[in-house]
Amino acid sequence: MDPQAKKTILRKIPHGVYVVGVKADSQINAFTATWLTQVSFTPPLVAVGIRKDSHSFEMVKQSRVFSVNLVGKNQKSLVEHFVKPASAIGEKLKEVRHRIGTTGTPILDEAIGFLECEVREIANETGDHAIVIGEVIEAGVHRDEPALTLMDTGWHYGG
Ligand SMILES: Cc1cc2nc3c(=O)[nH]c(=O)nc-3n(C[C@H](O)[C@H](O)[C@H](O)COP(=O)(O)O)c2cc1C
Repeated sequence: MDPQAKKTILRKIPHGVYVVGVKADSQINAFTATWLTQVSFTPPLVAVGIRKDSHSFEMVKQSRVFSVNLVGKNQKSLVEHFVKPASAIGEKLKEVRHRIGTTGTPILDEAIGFLECEVREIANETGDHAIVIGEVIEAGVHRDEPALTLMDTGWHYGG
């Protein structure tokens, strides 16, 4: 295989950019994710790839819930904040306005909308990211506007 071709083509797969909210006991956290897609109509399921060595993955494994916050085209700085690991910067949500949703996970006030999910399956023993499949049990629209995509940001995550 040509490793450069692999990288180039994998990076051309279009993605959104989201802030995924998590909880464990009384603690909440959130991180920027791009490897996320719908994988079933009935029941409504989404799958998200989560780094196995992240703080958030430990939290999801324990609580088995997560939220997905969609942000607008001009909110790159909001998702940028959640790229930093909690282990390095501590409580990421303290300066970001949010409420606690039905599942106990954070919903950002400034998001254009959100989903709340209960974990149904965790897969991918082989890879460095777990595939976490969640059933959508709650959803809301704050503003009807186009969502930020990875291409809009000029960043890469993949290859
Ligand atoms: C553009 C971009 C996309 C990302 N997408 C994902 C993703 O899909 N899944 C993931 O686990 N981490 C992703 N990350 C990395 C996490 O945001 C990062 O590891 C974060 O620090 C994890 O936070 P935590 O340690 O507080 O859980 C992405 C980072 C960037 C910059």
